[in-house]
Amino acid sequence: MNIVLMGLPGAGKGTQADKIIEKYAIPHISTGDMFRAAIKDGTELGLKAKSFMDQGQLVPDEVTIGIVRERLSQADCEKGFLLDGFPRTVPQAEALDSILVELGKSIEHTINVEVEKDELVARLSGRRICKVCGTSYHVVFNPPKEDGKCDKDGGELYTRADDNPETVSNRLEVNMNQAQPLLDFYQAKGVLSNINGQQDIDKVFADLDALLQGSRS
Ligand code: AP5
Ligand code: MG
Repeated sequence: MNIVLMGLPGAGKGTQADKIIEKYAIPHISTGDMFRAAIKDGTELGLKAKSFMDQGQLVPDEVTIGIVRERLSQADCEKGFLLDGFPRTVPQAEALDSILVELGKSIEHTINVEVEKDELVARLSGRRICKVCGTSYHVVFNPPKEDGKCDKDGGELYTRADDNPETVSNRLEVNMNQAQPLLDFYQAKGVLSNINGQQDIDKVFADLDALLQGSRS
């Protein structure tokens, strides 16, 4: 199963992606996670991405498209994949179409997770992430069992560098500007599904899962 999961910052893409990949056993391809890993490793890609991410801007399309093309070509994507946070501009969506043709693949589900802006700000300002496995928590909405520690591996929880108030505000503005044309692009193709992301995490997953199983269009 090949899936595209879209949504504004804080919509719950990563949270839901974790559940989907566990159930469907497909790789999770998050461009944000790939950039953060590159920054941590000090690679050339990381150096290119860091200044944009620190300011809440999008990494240029040519850089982002290149890493997705390479990642989708890898063998583990043969059994399916979940794209999280890509595409997020119309040129990226057009490039994805070309990459899929090149690779002889297609997307079965193009899904947008919808959440109101005020809720997004609240989610991003309380998010905490495990240093070891990357699982997202929220201090109020999805707290770990033990304060500051991951439920899965006891890893220390930290606040993402771009979750400070100023960068959150830029990220939301930048992403909102790109979101509508992108959704229009997929709507015009007749392939877009919207999911109400402003429900309990488990209810959002139940709706997503029903969609993936074809019992909801
Ligand atoms: P990326 O890492 O993708 O960040 P983002 O799009 O800003 O989205 P987030 O990861 O912040 O949110 P999410 O939707 O995954 O929410 P989560 O599940 O964590 O990208 C980072 C940066 O990289 C970008 O700003 C850009 O610079 C660059 N980049 C990445 N992709 C790019 C691209 N394609 N083109 C150009 N640049 C790109 O949940 C958030 C919080 O809410 C958590 O605390 C969680 O516990 C909580 N939560 C989740 N669901 C619920 C719920 N249902 N109810 C209550 N709380 C919930
Ligand atoms: Mg994410």
